[in-house]
Amino acid sequence: MRMKLRFQFDTRNIDWESVPEILEKAGIGFYPAEKHKHAFHNSHAVVFVFDSEHLIGFGRVMSDGEYQAAIYDVAILPEYQQKGIGKQIISHLMDRTPGCNYILYAAPGKEPFYEKIGFRRMKTGLALFVNREHMQQRGFTE
Ligand SMILES: CC(C)(COP(=O)(O)OP(=O)(O)OC[C@H]1O[C@@H](n2cnc3c(N)ncnc32)[C@H](O)[C@@H]1OP(=O)(O)O)[C@@H](O)C(=O)NCCC(=O)NCCS
Repeated sequence: MRMKLRFQFDTRNIDWESVPEILEKAGIGFYPAEKHKHAFHNSHAVVFVFDSEHLIGFGRVMSDGEYQAAIYDVAILPEYQQKGIGKQIISHLMDRTPGCNYILYAAPGKEPFYEKIGFRRMKTGLALFVNREHMQQRGFTE
């Protein structure tokens, strides 16, 4: 597949309807487009990846800009996975939050991707999800 990748680090001209579409195709949780728009706008840094003019992936980091950061909504269209794009998204998010600790929760089964980048499983991580039973059933919590 020939690719003409472009990375964008702001939310200008994003077709927000395609965000939940990509999240759904990638197999992770999604909301109405407007909710994602607010979430990306309110994040510390964002990365959107295009192939020519088509949005094919993204990620965002929430942070205090000093020492703590959390990575969310890293997703790439299935046909673009395993080509090094996910790694580049994480790298760009980390470049924009230097000196920070990072936390995230991987989609079940995707932990090895983050372990390859250097993340380690947390021994004392706890989460309080809005939809507790659903997240437990999906394998996120004990
Ligand atoms: C998980 C995801 C973001 C990874 O992005 P990607 O572009 O496919 O990954 P990359 O090609 O950058 O892979 C980087 C490295 O991780 C490895 N890797 C990627 N996904 C992996 C997986 N599921 N299991 C094991 N290793 C994996 C790659 O083989 C590669 O290894 P290498 O550096 O030795 O060559 C992407 O597959 C995706 O969007 N998945 C669906 C949504 C999702 O689960 N998102 C994460 C939610 S937290």
